Amino acid sequence: MAAIVLIGAQWGDEGKGKATDLLGGSINWVVRYQGGNNAGHTVVLPSGETFALHLIPSGILTPGVQNVIGNGVVVDPGVLLTELGGLEDRDVDTTGLLISADAHLLMPYHVAIDKVTERFLGNKKIGTTGRGIGPCYQDKIARVGVRVADVLDEKILTQKVEAALELKNQILVKIYNRRALDPAQVVDEVLGQAEGFKHRIADTRLLLNQALERGETVLLEGSQGTLLDVDHGTYPYVTSSNPTAGGAAVGAGIGPNKITTVLGILKAYTTRVGSGPFPTELFDEWGAYLAKTGGEVGVTTGRARRCGWFDAVIARYATRVNGITDYFLTKLDVLSSIDTIPICVAYEVDGERIEDMPMTQTGFHHAKPIYEEMPGWWEDISQCKTFEELPQNAQNYILRLEELSGAHISCIGVGPGRDQTIVRRAIA
Ligand code: IMP
Repeated sequence: MAAIVLIGAQWGDEGKGKATDLLGGSINWVVRYQGGNNAGHTVVLPSGETFALHLIPSGILTPGVQNVIGNGVVVDPGVLLTELGGLEDRDVDTTGLLISADAHLLMPYHVAIDKVTERFLGNKKIGTTGRGIGPCYQDKIARVGVRVADVLDEKILTQKVEAALELKNQILVKIYNRRALDPAQVVDEVLGQAEGFKHRIADTRLLLNQALERGETVLLEGSQGTLLDVDHGTYPYVTSSNPTAGGAAVGAGIGPNKITTVLGILKAYTTRVGSGPFPTELFDEWGAYLAKTGGEVGVTTGRARRCGWFDAVIARYATRVNGITDYFLTKLDVLSSIDTIPICVAYEVDGERIEDMPMTQTGFHHAKPIYEEMPGWWEDISQCKTFEELPQNAQNYILRLEELSGAHISCIGVGPGRDQTIVRRAIA
């Protein structure tokens, strides 16, 4: 019996799709447990075909894997159908995708409110993806959300949409000067969309627990990353769910003691999209170099990512709050051909050296990186198959990151392809 959690150790976009895909062969179930179509996973198949997934688990690309959108996810039904259609057009078998009856539906008014709120905040904006994620989770916690199973009962669905819009229409019209939404129209639209996904609705927590009892392996796929977690991230510049490993048990409906491995995904440098503090951010030509060489553009929004050197304070923090047992280090190849590579080993906060995450938001805003320099390498590493084949300086860089991060680096990505991964220690 094994449940493996996959979690981004930084601010998301660490390359989780590649890791899920690598593990696909030994895994029976892949589950998304939080977030929605704010996520973007890119998977490159050996054929060179590239797939960008947003809502659907990346296991969909591995034949025979059962895929689940868990109860912790917020589902935009229009996006779901478009993504399914896109996969089916490319001959991907989607029959194995199930959706939790308890996942929340992301409604058109959530998207509208997300956009107007960001505009209202001006330069204090979060820099959200504009997909309605925050407003949908607000409704979930306020107990006025609409759940996937509600589409099976038109009366209940209508009552819930009417109740939600009673207040939201006032906000849209009176505060933001927008058009009110017609509840009947919203219900009709959702019922129409439900025809395309009704057959996939299931009690996924029961199915997952039964699968674990049968000894099957379940991969719990986190979206975003540790520092975007609403509790453990750089609040308020975070997403509205819990990507950290604890969220996996809640968002899938399994006991935390079923989780045997927590695989952290760690980029060999750091990136961030949206607003908020980022101590190692580079504003010089090196930032532009990492962005260009690493192709650092958001899969979901097409926004340029902010780039900086590796930050070991963050990695240590991620190891702790998630209980990371293994790391998958991605995009090492992006660092080839740099004379010396800086690593942030600690921060200076108001004149004092600190090794761990500052306790306060102010402390993190004031944090200045303290760098150590490692000699770089010039060889092309994209075809390396083992750790020993890597240039000595690349090996040294990895070993130093491992020492600073506090968990074993078990897999190393040396290129975007499915086969461009070095496995130092098997995961599943
Ligand atoms: P939201 O999740 O759309 O509400 O956005 C909140 C914050 O999380 C913003 O800074 C986004 O840029 C960031 N964010 C959301 N999803 C992702 C992701 O998949 N990768 C990186 N950043 C993300």
